[in-house]
This record gives sequence, C-alpha cells and structure tokens, in this order.
Amino acid sequence: MLGSGGREHALAWKLAQSPHCAQLWASPGNPGVAAVIADLNARRARGAGGACIALDLADHAAVIAFCAAQAVDLVVVGPEAPLVDGLADSLRGAGIAVFGPGKAAARLEGSKGFTKDLCTRAGIPTAGYVRAKTAAEAHAALVGFSLPVVIKADGLAAGKGVVIAQTAEEAAATIDDMFGGAFGGAGAEVVIEEFLEGEEVSLFAITDGSAIVAFGSAQDHKRVGEGDTGPNTGGMGAYSPAPVLTAELEARAMAEIIAPTVKAMAEAGMPYSGVLFAGLMLTAEGPKLIEYNCRFGDPECQVLMMRLESDLVALLDACARGELAGAAAPALSAQSAITVVMAAKGYPGTPASGGGIENLSAAEAHGAKVFHAGTAEAGDGHLVAKGGRVLNVTATGATLRDARDRAYAALGEIRFEDGFWRGDVGWRELARQSES
Ligand code: AMP
Ligand code: GLY
Repeated sequence: MLGSGGREHALAWKLAQSPHCAQLWASPGNPGVAAVIADLNARRARGAGGACIALDLADHAAVIAFCAAQAVDLVVVGPEAPLVDGLADSLRGAGIAVFGPGKAAARLEGSKGFTKDLCTRAGIPTAGYVRAKTAAEAHAALVGFSLPVVIKADGLAAGKGVVIAQTAEEAAATIDDMFGGAFGGAGAEVVIEEFLEGEEVSLFAITDGSAIVAFGSAQDHKRVGEGDTGPNTGGMGAYSPAPVLTAELEARAMAEIIAPTVKAMAEAGMPYSGVLFAGLMLTAEGPKLIEYNCRFGDPECQVLMMRLESDLVALLDACARGELAGAAAPALSAQSAITVVMAAKGYPGTPASGGGIENLSAAEAHGAKVFHAGTAEAGDGHLVAKGGRVLNVTATGATLRDARDRAYAALGEIRFEDGFWRGDVGWRELARQSES
C-alpha cells in the first residue's frame, strides 16, 4: 500500500481485516499504518511479515524490485501523484497487479481539459467550457461567459487551481496569474467554465475498465472554517452516505456520467481501472460532473472504509486483475459514518509542526476510530503532529446525528494543544434532517 495519510491508514486498516491479507507492506505509511501492520503480524501464525518502509515512489525500478523481492501480490496506490506519474503502468509491465489507473487513464484527474473534451464526446452532463492555451485566448473566451465564472488550471495543483471569479476584473487577473506561473506547469493551460448552481456531492465507483460497481456517496467540508468560511483545504471532515444523492439521482449519475466515461475511456484505448471519484453538482437539470479524481478522497475514504462490510482485498484484487464482473459486489452498511479532521494550527497555510498528541486510546474507548493523517513518533513513544491534517476522528451510528455525537465525544478526549477542527461537520445534512 502506497501513501502516508489518513486515507492510507483507513485503507490499511480495512485491507488488514481481510483473510486474504497475509502480509502488508506500506510505503511510506505513518504511525497508524505501522500499528495496523504490527497487529496483523501478531495475528498471523507465520509471524513477522510486513512493515512500513521508505521507497522513492518516483523510482519505479526500486518499487518493482521491492515488490518482486517480497512476492507482493497486489499494490494499492492511495494518492494521485504516483498514478499520474505512471507507476501503475510500470508495475503492470513487470507483471505486478495494481489497484489504480495507468498514466493515460489518470489524465481524468491530471488534466481538466482532457476530461471536459471526453464529456463532450460522450455526451456527459458537465459545465459549458472553453480550453485556452494562451492568456490571449483565455481573455477572448471570457466574453462568452456570465458571472461568476470558473477558471481552472489544467493540471494537478493540489486542489488550489480553481478560482470562482465574481467580477470581470478578478477573472482577468486570475488568467494573468495562471499563465504567469502561479500554479507552475499546472497553469500552462486553463479551462474556463460556466458556474453551476446546486449542492455538491461525491460519488465513488470501482471499475476494471468494463465492469462497474457503485461504492457509495459522501460529502466533505472543503473550507477551513465553520459555516464553510475561509480558504479551501483538502477537506476538514466528511460523512457517508450523502442522503442528498438519492437512489434515483445515484442511478442517473451512474448511467449518465460514470458508465459513459468508462466506455469512452475503453474506446479511446485507455481503459480506466481503479476507483473513479466523481465530484458532482446536483443542479436543477440533474447531476453534472464537476471533476474526476483517480483515487479515493481523503477524508472521504475514511468514512467509506468504516461502512464497508465486505472484503476489501478481494474487491481491489478483482479490479486490478480485470475480474470485477465475477466478484462479489461491495457491501456498505446502512449506517452513517462521519469523520472530523483535527488539523495543526496554521493549516492550510504553514501548519505548526511537532505539537504533542495524547489520549488516543481514550478517544477510541468511545467507539470511534482515530486514523492518523499527519503524525510522527517522537522517539520516546510519544506522538506528535507532522503535517496539516493530523488526525481523523471517525465514528459510525444508526443516524448521522448519532455518528456525529460519537465522533465529537471521542474528539473531546484527545489532547492536541496545537490543533483545531471544525465543530460543524455534517451541518448541511443535519440541518436538513432537523427540518423534516
Ligand atoms: P475542482 O478542483 O474541479 O473540484 O474544483 C474545486 C471546487 O470548485 C469544487 O469543489 C466546486 O466547489 C467549485 N467548482 C468547480 N467547478 C465549478 C463549477 N463549474 N461551478 C461551480 N462550482 C465549481
Ligand atoms: N477531499 C477531497 C479530495 O480528496 O479530493
């Protein structure tokens, strides 16, 4: 398993529950992942097995050599960067099964313009757009859009390459910034988009390039501050399912967005294999695609893994081998799951590093699961913060309210002086539920 965040701790935790998981290696992992592996090693009759190891994921030959030496049966890639970089192709080329798309298919996340053109070809509902390769083209295209207008750097920009411009001046300045290198190579091309009105929701599907299975819905909280204020982050909390995506809307999104995407990718000679994470806008005309990600969301993965009742190894392995059609469909519990991100003060700017963290076991005694997102061992067995998002306090319940209450009760046990969190995770759905 590759990656180091809360998403990867949740994946490791679920992978290790499978009877098919004899050994688990993680790179780089984190202290939470290391604890999962230690527990697995203790439970296995054969004793010692995996560990957290430091591989350079950009060095494909080194990753392949490690997998060959340890006879790794399946590689699960957490983050997008190694996928966009073609690590899955290199591993497959060496005969190693991998969960995650190759470089060509990962362009669904890696290039917004690529995805928009695919939507046009396949008739997938999405915001109207123009691609521009120069600032002059972009300025000229602006006249065709009303305000607000959405301007996006084409490439990967760690979630920061999207600006919703309220005025023509702001739009023009954004274009100049992007072509001026504000987002590095990601802004060498921009996409200008119509602003969509509605509520956002995330839908996950697993596909091996032909078979497709739905893998649940979620909503996250991108803004750092309560009431959805302040700068964007990677996500300050999430819950699953998202009832706003009704069974009917989910079926529409699967039929009108996910299925035609998988078909169009296969027809274009770049079959998509892995998890397809669709950011949707629920508009008055129905669900429209905002963007694709080629990996699980972080922290959406944490709530999905809490609800997953079936075997994750069997599912991801079947996907990696192109045998999804014959595999058991994933079973997600009807319970609600919620996760609250504890971040280091300063995030999403410069987070305070090294702050002490205590009492995680007291938190888990409340029935919550605490995933490590950015922690480190201080050497004396103490845990400290290392990163922006530090912990994901995650709980399930019969209702979202129950799950929320359990998560915050657990969070109240944790001592993390340098940390902060949003107190209103789940608010949109909870408000809707208390109205009805
Ligand atoms: P993205 O990185 O493409 O997900 O964009 C980041 C955020 O910008 C999304 O989660 C939306 O909140 C917002 N956004 C992106 N595209 C649009 C659009 N066409 N209309 C309205 N909001 C958008
Ligand atoms: N939480 C949003 C993402 O993983 O992209």
